[in-house]
Amino acid sequence: MKLFVDTGSIKEIETIAALGILDGVTTNPSLLAKEPGDFRQNLKRICDIVKGPVSGEVTATDFAGMLQQGRDIAKIDPHMVVKTPLTRDGIRACKQLSGEGIRVNVTLCFTPAQALLAAKAGASYVSPFVGRLDDISTNGMDVVREIVQIFDNYEFPTEILVASCRHPIHVVEAARLGADIATCPPAVIEALFNHPLTNIGLEKFLKDWEKAQAIKA
Ligand code: E4P
Repeated sequence: MKLFVDTGSIKEIETIAALGILDGVTTNPSLLAKEPGDFRQNLKRICDIVKGPVSGEVTATDFAGMLQQGRDIAKIDPHMVVKTPLTRDGIRACKQLSGEGIRVNVTLCFTPAQALLAAKAGASYVSPFVGRLDDISTNGMDVVREIVQIFDNYEFPTEILVASCRHPIHVVEAARLGADIATCPPAVIEALFNHPLTNIGLEKFLKDWEKAQAIKA
């Protein structure tokens, strides 16, 4: 399963990329709005760091505006993926942009029916938001399970990008279900590393080693 980081922060992306386990980046307007500077230049810099798929979202809500912004975003770098929302115009724009050879990530997906529409429109990725579903007492992972089943049934090539991951269990569940990608905030990626027994074990190994060296000396 691929692991993406969900942030617009170049500093955070550099830190996570240095770990050697990063496959791509997702951004959204809320995340990019927090960053200083021109968003196009920031996205270009992110592509240069990651050298993998980087999602940048359109902010237009009408078909023509989405096409214009989508083509503009795609020109930033060959690694750019255009995000369109799961609306009627977003699905139409996905179909058109995908037909032009531009990779599209259909975002704000909350049901298997919506994911089916994204796949039929030729999306390269569809992003079910599991955390936001959990927030309203709906199991986000149940939605991912159904999407995996539907896409397997028909061999849709659209990759399932599990988004709005809030903790390591979301990542593990996404992997267990066979989702293609999980995108997480940097803190969740950091949390994947943590287990107290790893720290305790390492401390003991090093102490034992030092003790033995002192006896030998
Ligand atoms: C994904 O592409 C979205 O940017 C993101 O995962 C949304 O996460 P949130 O619900 O934590 O804002």
